[in-house]
Amino acid sequence: MELRSQTFIPTTKETPKGAEAVSHALSLRAGLLHMVSAGIYTYLPLGYKVLRNIEEIVRGRMEQTGAQELFMPALQPLELWQKTGRDKDLEEVMLHVQDRKGRKLCLGPTHEELITEIASKYISSYKQLPVTLYQIQTKYRDEMRPRFGLVRGCEFMMKDAYSFDADESGLNASYEKMLDAYQKIFTECGLEYVVSEADPGAMGGNVSHEFMVPAEIGEDMLYACAGCGLYAREAGQCEHCGQALSESRMIEIGHVFKLGTKYSVPLQATFLDQHGKRNPLVMGCYGIGVSRLLSAIIETNHDEKGIIWPARVSPYRAVIVVLNQEFIPQARRLAERIETGGGSVLIDDRNESAGVKFRDAQLLGIPRILVMGRTFADRKEIEVESRADGERSAMSPDAAAEHV
Ligand SMILES: Nc1ncnc2c1ncn2[C@@H]1O[C@H](COP(=O)(O)OP(=O)(O)OP(=O)(O)O)[C@@H](O)[C@H]1O
Ligand SMILES: [Mg+2]
Ligand SMILES: [Zn+2]
Repeated sequence: MELRSQTFIPTTKETPKGAEAVSHALSLRAGLLHMVSAGIYTYLPLGYKVLRNIEEIVRGRMEQTGAQELFMPALQPLELWQKTGRDKDLEEVMLHVQDRKGRKLCLGPTHEELITEIASKYISSYKQLPVTLYQIQTKYRDEMRPRFGLVRGCEFMMKDAYSFDADESGLNASYEKMLDAYQKIFTECGLEYVVSEADPGAMGGNVSHEFMVPAEIGEDMLYACAGCGLYAREAGQCEHCGQALSESRMIEIGHVFKLGTKYSVPLQATFLDQHGKRNPLVMGCYGIGVSRLLSAIIETNHDEKGIIWPARVSPYRAVIVVLNQEFIPQARRLAERIETGGGSVLIDDRNESAGVKFRDAQLLGIPRILVMGRTFADRKEIEVESRADGERSAMSPDAAAEHV
């Protein structure tokens, strides 16, 4: 458990200037983020807890597909990018660095080149296939218009996975596993997402799918049918029910690609098949905007009072609002009982007015708000409020612990 009086959660009442998106304003007001400069943020303790919860959801599902975690450097030799020609393709977004000996480096906007070089070094036989590697790591992109907090940053967290197979059918199987894992990840993050076939663009390859969340601040566009909810990429009529499709803004949260041999050929990542024949590895790559998810979750899970965290990503399981300092020992005992069921509890023990504490609890968005106030003084009952629907009921501490 943590005591609010001792935790670093700098909440503010006012909406900060320049925060155009609700998620941006709320993440600053709730003390999740600190803006360092446009597109550059510090995750404050509360924001970092949420980020790690999202990462844990992602890790759990990645491991389930059999993918193995590694960690590549952000600093990458430019030489490697020259081999695929992507030093030119990504020139605009790439942040260039030169060390004191004149070595030309970049801060990685993505990692296909680096991982393919690893594969070329260590994969030599079909017996080592298939293999999928992933990391959760910082990416750097010189975005033209960094905006909306973590939605478009110049430094952001991405989960990037890379599959290596012997042939197309192997790639198809790896790709399907990832599509399935992605659906579970986004559901666990409390997001209502849409999957759509997309243009592979600068990543290359011929098949790709995007995962998107409908939101007004989205910078991607899909067409939606108001009749049946079907999404399409082009204007026109709904294939399903014939109604006219209307524009719908989307935030891209994940993108997966069948790369084929686009990287393995120029970087000579080959293996020997059963017949002793040398073939290029057949690759897929799979990205999730881990930090962008944090913003996308807030953008689609809030009300006028603040954030409403989906249970799995919430920084705390519950918050106990203590309105009388004498109740703090009982609040601690209640927190302990709740924590035996997993997750951590925040106790608002501050010497502040009830109004301030309520508003703060609503802003922070913790799914259960447990109030120890008058009903506790009168009848030893806790008022339990569900943040999402505002429903309240009074119950004994036992029942409250059980309920949470
Ligand atoms: N500047 C950014 N800030 C935060 N997240 C990002 C940023 N750029 C990309 N992402 C996230 O990383 C994921 C994988 O990266 P990818 O290279 O496929 O993105 P992208 O096509 O450049 O995205 P976008 O079209 O939004 O620029 C994206 O689906 C997105 O969720
Ligand atoms: Mg981009
Ligand atoms: Zn329709």
